Amino acid sequence: MSIYRTIVPPIKCQGIKTKLVPWIRAVIPSYLDGAWIEPFMGSGVVAFNIRPKRAILADTNPHLIAFYRAVSEGRITSTSVRRYLEKEGNELLRSKGEHYYKIRERFNKHHNSIDFLFLNRACFNGMIRFNRKGGFNVPFCRKPGRFAQALITKVANQVQAVSDAMSVGDYEFHVQPFSETIDLATEHDFIYCDPPYIDRHVDYFNGWDKEHELALEVVLSEAPCNFILSTWHHNDFRHNTFIDSLWSNYHILTRKHFYYVGAKEDNRNPMIEALVTNYEAVVEDAPKEELKQMRLLEPAGRCDRL
Ligand SMILES: C[S@@+](CC[C@H](N)C(=O)[O-])C[C@H]1O[C@@H](n2cnc3c(N)ncnc32)[C@H](O)[C@@H]1O
Repeated sequence: MSIYRTIVPPIKCQGIKTKLVPWIRAVIPSYLDGAWIEPFMGSGVVAFNIRPKRAILADTNPHLIAFYRAVSEGRITSTSVRRYLEKEGNELLRSKGEHYYKIRERFNKHHNSIDFLFLNRACFNGMIRFNRKGGFNVPFCRKPGRFAQALITKVANQVQAVSDAMSVGDYEFHVQPFSETIDLATEHDFIYCDPPYIDRHVDYFNGWDKEHELALEVVLSEAPCNFILSTWHHNDFRHNTFIDSLWSNYHILTRKHFYYVGAKEDNRNPMIEALVTNYEAVVEDAPKEELKQMRLLEPAGRCDRL
């Protein structure tokens, strides 16, 4: 039995699937001949852990795609990230946090990918949120040890890990809506879709409503290959009504997952996650060691807004 070490990407985003990677891996067919296609790439954690030989990764958020393109082309490296974070981290410390807002302003003018990484790792709850004009608008999160040497090393290692993962294959990146990405699929490919969850968080790059969900089902139903769709099934308060109205003709697997809101254990929100597939998955339980390792990853930390 092989045990995988999960790659944790340097960029965080809402709905990141780090902890669900072992389950997703257990559900995908063991053999992939064509390309791994992800129309909603987000942090890229699923693709980087599946490690396909060929991948088409897309998102409507141009800043995510620009960041990973820069890493794959060697314009951002673990060394440049370390140097940059040491310099900007020191200024942040000296300015007692005000420097964050200088970088946010600079990013909103020039869209530099390394500034995007800085904001993502220093902002409130690692959120990616843009206002109506497309400006990044998440406030600073004051945290002890923000850009301490250990964190800088951790982020630099994460950049190295995704760079290594991309170097073994042929990875393409696109800024485009999901329908254009799914249209690229051929019968040998595999599509993993993780759209913004309907009825949940919305922002400039994450508008998602009933029309989007219906359109996604149409293009997926016409796709020539196998797919997995991640969505939510229910929580303590509500059911995802699209499970019964839209996705009921597909195979549905469920698993309990905890989303953290803030730092406290009491703030864990249990959610039943669903994987919708157009094939019958033979699911082997993920190795126990691997699941244990997942629980050790990225514990929630304390964060105070400036
Ligand atoms: C839930 S996140 C994906 C998370 C990712 N699987 C991960 O684990 O990090 C959804 C992503 O879809 C992107 N997105 C939103 N609307 C889109 C659309 N119409 N077409 C393509 N991507 C879209 C967002 O920018 C966001 O990055």
